[in-house]
Amino acid sequence: MQTLRWILASLHLIGLGVGFGACWLRAVRLQALAKGTGSLQAVLNADNWYGVATLLWIATGLWRAFGGVEKGSDYYLNSTAFLVKMALFIVVFALEWVPMVAFIGWRIQLKKQRLPDTRKAGLFATLTYLELFVFLLMVFAATATARGLWY
Ligand code: HEM
Repeated sequence: MQTLRWILASLHLIGLGVGFGACWLRAVRLQALAKGTGSLQAVLNADNWYGVATLLWIATGLWRAFGGVEKGSDYYLNSTAFLVKMALFIVVFALEWVPMVAFIGWRIQLKKQRLPDTRKAGLFATLTYLELFVFLLMVFAATATARGLWY
């Protein structure tokens, strides 16, 4: 159990590193695309890494919270810090919704060998920067959760 706990904690933090980096890269590349100097494929590559990291975050996070490997579900469901962290995660999801749907559309267009309409790249860059800011807040909520603050 200790080994599983250790591996899940490591993967969760690796997800944080990769996800934060990929999210930042996506924002920078979207900005470049909006200015006409970037490449659409570069944006989608960063988005792929961001997607993989998010899956790792969610899977390891849920396992740690509700799989009985850490402090147990009761602890987390009664922790205000944890609930704040989850609320912030929903904020990220809300910010991500429109770009996520647009990127799926862009990928479909590319597969059909059509040029996607990327005029909203600037807006998506702003939304992605906002997601980065919310991730920073989530780190404060996560470390508070682990230390029993706001319980
Ligand atoms: C569905 C999503 C997530 C769930 C369910 C979740 C759950 C958890 C749980 C249960 C822990 C262990 C806390 C403890 O030691 O008692 C943890 C630790 C942590 N999480 Fe998450 N997490 C999620 C997403 C994220 C995201 C997106 C970030 C970063 C922005 C993040 C950052 C952290 C950090 C930094 C720690 C380590 C805290 C420490 O040991 O000081 N988590 N998470």
